[in-house]
Amino acid sequence: MKTLGLSGSLRAASTNSMLLRSITKLAPPRMEVTVFQGLGELPLFNPDLEANPPAAVIAFFQAVAETDALLIASPEYAHGVSGTIKNALDWLVGFEPFTAKFVAVLNASPRAYIADLALRETLQTMAAVLIEEASISIPLLGANLDESAIVATPAIAGAIRDTLRAIQVAVLSRRDPRMAQLLTKW
Ligand SMILES: Cc1cc2nc3c(=O)[nH]c(=O)nc-3n(C[C@H](O)[C@H](O)[C@H](O)COP(=O)(O)O)c2cc1C
Repeated sequence: MKTLGLSGSLRAASTNSMLLRSITKLAPPRMEVTVFQGLGELPLFNPDLEANPPAAVIAFFQAVAETDALLIASPEYAHGVSGTIKNALDWLVGFEPFTAKFVAVLNASPRAYIADLALRETLQTMAAVLIEEASISIPLLGANLDESAIVATPAIAGAIRDTLRAIQVAVLSRRDPRMAQLLTKW
C-alpha cells in the first residue's frame, strides 16, 4: 500500500516537511510512505499546458496515480494555503485518477486553522475522500523537535501511528471490507 506525502513548504527547515519525513520512518511494514520532492519544480498551473504537460507535471501525475492515499501538510500563508500546495492541487483538478483519492490533512501549526479549513474545502470540491480519523494537528511550530525527536516522542508517534492505521483501514476497506477487520495493532 502506498501513501504519498505532499508538503506545502519549500523551506529547507520546514516543519511540515519534517513531519512528513517523520511519518515515513513510522510506517509499518505493509505501508510505503514517501514524500514527493518535485512540487517546487511544477510550473504555475496553466490549462493551456494540460494537453501536453511538462515532464515535472507528468512525474507528479504518475506519483499521484500510483498512490493509494495522500498526506498533505501545508503551512498557512496570509490565511490561505501556500501557493505551492494550491498550485499542485490545481494541476490535479482535471486529473481523473485523483477523483475519490484518499487524503489526510496534517496541520503542524494548530493556530493555522483558516488554511486547514480552506484546504479541506478545496479537497472536497475536487472530490477527494478526506479521512477524518487520519487528519490531525501536531503542534510542531516552535517545538524545536527534529525528526528523531518526533519519532521518539510517544504522544506524537502514537498520533502518527493512528493516522497511518486510519489510512490503512480506509484503503483496505475500499479494496475489500473484510480485510479491514483482519488488521491487527502494530
Ligand atoms: C509569508 C508568510 C505568511 C504567513 N502567514 C501566516 C498566517 O496567516 N497564519 C499563521 O498561523 N501563520 C502564518 N505564517 C507562519 C507559517 O505558517 C509558519 O512559519 C509555518 O511553520 C511555516 O511552515 P513550514 O515550517 O513548513 O515552512 C506565515 C509565514 C510566512 C512566511
